[in-house]
Order: sequence, then C-alpha cells, then structure tokens
Amino acid sequence: MNIILMGLPGAGKGTQAAPIKEALNIPHISTGDMFRQAVKEETPLGLEAKSYMDQGQLVPDRVTIGIVRERLAKEDCNNGFLLDGFPRTVPQAEALDQLLKEMEREIDYVLYIDVNEEELINRLTGRRICRDCGATYHLVFAPPKAEGVCDQCGGELYQRADDSVETVKNRLSVNIGQTQLLLDYYESTGKLQRINGAQPIEQVTEQILSLIRGANK
Ligand code: AP5
Repeated sequence: MNIILMGLPGAGKGTQAAPIKEALNIPHISTGDMFRQAVKEETPLGLEAKSYMDQGQLVPDRVTIGIVRERLAKEDCNNGFLLDGFPRTVPQAEALDQLLKEMEREIDYVLYIDVNEEELINRLTGRRICRDCGATYHLVFAPPKAEGVCDQCGGELYQRADDSVETVKNRLSVNIGQTQLLLDYYESTGKLQRINGAQPIEQVTEQILSLIRGANK
C-alpha cells in the first residue's frame, strides 16, 4: 500500500506513522527526519537544508524532490511506503505523480490529519523527542514515565530547535496556504481521506487503521 500522510506541523504525522508502519510493514519516509539526519551528519544537503529549517521555511522543491526520488528507488519500498511530510507543495505533488508513473505505481490513500491552529501550537511547543531512538513525547498529552528520559530506550529527551514558539508560528504560516492548495489537488483524485486529529492519539490511530483495513478486506 502506498500512502501519503498529510497534516500541518504538529498534527501527529510522526506519531501516527509508527503504528501504521508496523501494521502494514512498510517503510516510514519522513522528509523532515531525512533532513535532520543530514544536518546532524553535516552533509552538503544538511548544510543547505538547515538554513531553511531553522527559520521554519520549506527546503526548495528541487532538493526535496531529489531526496524522495532516491529514497523511493530503494528495495524496501517495493511493497509500499508511507510518505510523511511529502509532498508539501503542488510542484512536489506533481513530481511525485510523475515519479510514480515511471515506477508504474500509484497512491492508494492520502490521509489528512486535521487539527486546529491553537492546538498545533500547544502540541509543538510541548513536544520532546528521544535523542537516541527518535520516539516522540508530549509534556502533557504523552508524557514519559520519568521526566526527560525515553520510556523505550532510556535515551535523553530534547526539544527540536524549530519547536520554539516563534519558529512554530512561522512554520504554520508557511504551511497553511500550501496545505490548502495540496488538499484541493488531492480532493480531485478521490483518494483524500480526512481524519479528525483532535481526538486522543489512540483514537486517531484506530480511525486510520480501520479505514485502511476496511479497504483491504
Ligand atoms: P517535519 O519534521 O516534517 O515537520 P512538520 O511537518 O513541521 O511536522 P512535525 O514533525 O513537526 O509534526 P508531526 O505532524 O509529525 O507531529 P508529531 O507526531 O511529532 O519538517 C521539518 C522541516 O523540514 C520543515 O519545517 C521544512 O523546513 C523541512 N521539510 C520537511 N519536509 C519538507 C518538504 N516536503 N518540503 C520542503 N521542506 C520540507 O506530534 C506533535 C506533538 O503532538 C508530539 O508531542 C505528540 O506527542 C503530540 N500529539 C500527536 N498526536 C496527538 C493527539 N492526537 N493528541 C494530543 N497530542 C498529540
């Protein structure tokens, strides 16, 4: 199954990607994670991406489309993939369509996790991430058992540099317009499914999995 997980920053894409990936046994491809890894390794891609990410701006389409093209060509995508945070602009969506055509494949679902702006700010500014395994927590909505320590691997929890109030507001304003254009783009394909992301994490997961499983019956 080939799935696109869409949603504004903080909607819960990364959180929901984990159970979907496990249930369908498909790779989770997050352009944000790929850029953060490149920044950590200080590669030329990372150095270019960092200047945009720090300001909450989008990395140019040329760069983003290039890394997704390379990633989808890997063998582990043969049985499907879960794209998280890509496409984020209409040119990226058009490039993805072209790429999938070349691969003789198509998207099965575009899942849009819908959450209002005020809630997104609360979610992003309270988010903490494990430095070692990448597990995501929230100070209020999904707290770790011991403060600052990952439940899963014992790693140290940190706050993402772009989760400061100032950068979060910038990310939202940059993404809102682009996301609306993308929703219009996918609405016309009949593959778009809107998920109420304002429910507790487990209920959002349940809604997504029952939708996908229903389709597989
Ligand atoms: P990226 O890493 O993709 O960031 P994002 O889209 O801003 O999304 P987030 O990862 O911040 O949020 P999420 O939806 O995954 O939420 P999460 O599950 O963590 O991109 C970072 C940057 O890279 C971009 O700004 C851009 O510069 C660049 N980039 C990436 N892709 C690009 C592209 N295609 N084109 C150009 N540039 C690109 O949840 C958030 C918090 O809420 C967590 O604390 C979680 O515990 C909590 N939470 C989740 N669900 C719930 C719930 N139901 N109830 C209560 N709390 C919840």
